[in-house]
Amino acid sequence: MIGKKMEEALNSQVNAELYSAYLYMQMAAYFKHKNLPGFANWMTVQVQEEMLHATKFYNYILDRGGQVKLMSIDGPPTSFESALGIFEMAYAHEQKVTGLINNLVNLAIEQKDHAANMFMQWFVNEQVEEEANASGIVEQLKMADGQPGAVLMLDREMAARVFTPPAAGAGAP
Ligand SMILES: [Fe+2]
Ligand SMILES: [Fe+2]
Repeated sequence: MIGKKMEEALNSQVNAELYSAYLYMQMAAYFKHKNLPGFANWMTVQVQEEMLHATKFYNYILDRGGQVKLMSIDGPPTSFESALGIFEMAYAHEQKVTGLINNLVNLAIEQKDHAANMFMQWFVNEQVEEEANASGIVEQLKMADGQPGAVLMLDREMAARVFTPPAAGAGAP
């Protein structure tokens, strides 16, 4: 059985992950509109990853005998200035999410909830990757410096990203 405080915090994290999916879906729309299908693909894969994160928390709450309470999801920003601006925003967002995950770990330690602490460790690692991915693209876009040739080349690279669903038992819905 899960503590009330932990249950609430995990439900908030479901919402934060769904918001992340929403944000990246909006960003994908920008790239589709701008005829950059590779960047749009990267964002669409990101949406799937965030849905998976949300589902992992959702299932975990239920596995621990808690109650899932879905909340309304805030609308993301709907206009963006540039590809670089978007990835800077994505990077800042991931840093914020890392903070949320760290708070959840702190709560698990405080509550002596070892199972929740263990569960959260996957996300601690995942956030290292999430931040590295976003900041890597920020740096590449800075190098491209808005030159169409360089941006198009990056777009081709972004087209190669595929969503890899987790193996059974590894948080699959
Ligand atoms: Fe996430
Ligand atoms: Fe993320």
